[in-house]
Amino acid sequence: MYTLKPILAAIVFMAGYAGASVLPEASSNIVQRQNLVPLSFGNAEWIWTGEESSPGADVPLGPRGFRYQIINPSPFILPICLTIAVAADNEYDLYVNGFNIGNNFERVSLDAGFQDADIYNVPLNAEGQNVIAINATNGPDPGLGPFPNPAGLIVTGIITFSTGLQETLVSNSSWLTLAAPTPTDFFSPTFNDAAWIPASEEGTDGVSPWGVTTIVPNNVIGCLNF
Ligand SMILES: *[C@@H]1O[C@H](CO)[C@@H](O)[C@H](O)[C@H]1NC(C)=O
Ligand SMILES: *[C@@H]1O[C@H](CO)[C@@H](O)[C@H](O)[C@H]1NC(C)=O
Repeated sequence: MYTLKPILAAIVFMAGYAGASVLPEASSNIVQRQNLVPLSFGNAEWIWTGEESSPGADVPLGPRGFRYQIINPSPFILPICLTIAVAADNEYDLYVNGFNIGNNFERVSLDAGFQDADIYNVPLNAEGQNVIAINATNGPDPGLGPFPNPAGLIVTGIITFSTGLQETLVSNSSWLTLAAPTPTDFFSPTFNDAAWIPASEEGTDGVSPWGVTTIVPNNVIGCLNF
């Protein structure tokens, strides 16, 4: 897992405050602000590569890469932490800033990969870029064999900034992808994705064939766990 989290987050918090033009009103507000914005898949799109002839249509088996760079609202509002929920049909492997954060490999084998989203808290680079990268893989339908079938990735997240500002992030056509197997170093923040294309939108949470994605409740909400 991600054992450097406590140390990294402490450093990131301090760096964020040192560089911010507007200091948070009081450090006790850090506790309160964790839940200002609820985590929700409401506006999130199921996305893929556009290899589908229509939203939710069959696509080839295999891994596809997805990348998203967080845009800071201003040079003085510094990103501290990302709370991110991910689900995929079928597999996902999540990276943030080149670090491998987690995957759903075990649950995919139970054929529940896309019904429940996993939640992660990840420290962000207060200064510099922040890149989310996901290797999502379309696997065979159980019982049907190794044939093309629908595939998708859905993500929602909350970015917490140094001022206490929180912004929602969702998967949509602002994510980049490639209609070809995931390149080996795709997760590197410096990977050249100039040739990548906007992800295709297959419909928001609840759409067929995936239905409503559940955010599995856990105790890891907000950035305080670092
Ligand atoms: C995609 O989602 C982001 C939030 O993550 C939002 O700012 C942006 O406007 C959306 N873009 C489209 C094309 O819907
Ligand atoms: C993407 O995931 C697939 C399936 O787990 C794996 O075979 C492939 O090596 C992964 N690609 C990268 C670049 O991580």
